[in-house]
Amino acid sequence: MNDRLKGRVAIVTGGGHGIGKAYATRLAAEGAKIVIAEIDEKAALAVAAELVAAGYEAIGVRTDVANADSVAQMAAAAVAHFGRIDVLVNNAAIFATVPMSRSPFDQISIDEWDRMMSVNLKGTWLASCAVVPQMRAQGYGKIINISSGTALKGSPSRIHYVTSKAGILGFTKTLANEVGKDNICVNCVAPGSTLSEENPDEDIIKMRNQAMSTRALKRVQSPDDLTGAIVFFASADSDFITGQTLVVDGGSCLH
Ligand SMILES: NC(=O)c1ccc[n+]([C@@H]2O[C@H](COP(=O)([O-])OP(=O)(O)OC[C@H]3O[C@@H](n4cnc5c(N)ncnc54)[C@H](O)[C@@H]3O)[C@@H](O)[C@H]2O)c1
Repeated sequence: MNDRLKGRVAIVTGGGHGIGKAYATRLAAEGAKIVIAEIDEKAALAVAAELVAAGYEAIGVRTDVANADSVAQMAAAAVAHFGRIDVLVNNAAIFATVPMSRSPFDQISIDEWDRMMSVNLKGTWLASCAVVPQMRAQGYGKIINISSGTALKGSPSRIHYVTSKAGILGFTKTLANEVGKDNICVNCVAPGSTLSEENPDEDIIKMRNQAMSTRALKRVQSPDDLTGAIVFFASADSDFITGQTLVVDGGSCLH
């Protein structure tokens, strides 16, 4: 790897599993010190320990992104351990590890709808609010939000999830406008259907395989396919790019 993030400090929410773990591992390999901010405390500590064992600097902090006090503690822990916050990857979501139903739009419970918005949308806002004061004080920061190709294409189910991910697109553009004067860039990555599950069952594998037929590049998408876009938005290579959404899906959603 290239040390493109040497001396930088990156928080990855939901970094204990799946794609977030791949982001954390790649950001560490590029030189960043890592905070795994994850609701599953055991996973947060385990991923941080793996990174430390590999020779990187990392801590795990139990974080519920839907809770303002919890994200304030996340930001405080990052500053206490590493002295700054350069990158926030707003990756935590209700998706696979914390599962969602795939019910038709009129059969989703109100509780599940509210929880989806609370974690996926409000969580992205709260985590951003928690890190921006430190980024402002530094005069530099990179916030990377995670949407989904489904927000651009629509989906035959999971209307609550898709709606939450569509909200991330407007959130990204507006926050980029608000914090540009502080030299903070806000961008978004929209992944395609990615085989991110640790123990995928047959149905999941079938679904991820089916996604191949919608793509220009005919193969299954893996978490590692997404990490280059995250490093780009986290690094100085994108210092004059903000408010943008990059679709990383092998050419399924061409926009
Ligand atoms: N896998 C895909 O096909 C795909 C496609 C498009 C977008 N995405 C997005 O990519 C991101 C990662 O997805 P994934 O496939 O790795 O799924 P995942 O469910 O494994 O990852 C989400 C992570 O967030 C954590 N989390 C859940 N609620 C939390 C909370 N309240 N506070 C803190 N952490 C919390 C989970 O424990 C998990 O580690 C998500 O934002 C997802 O919406 C995934």
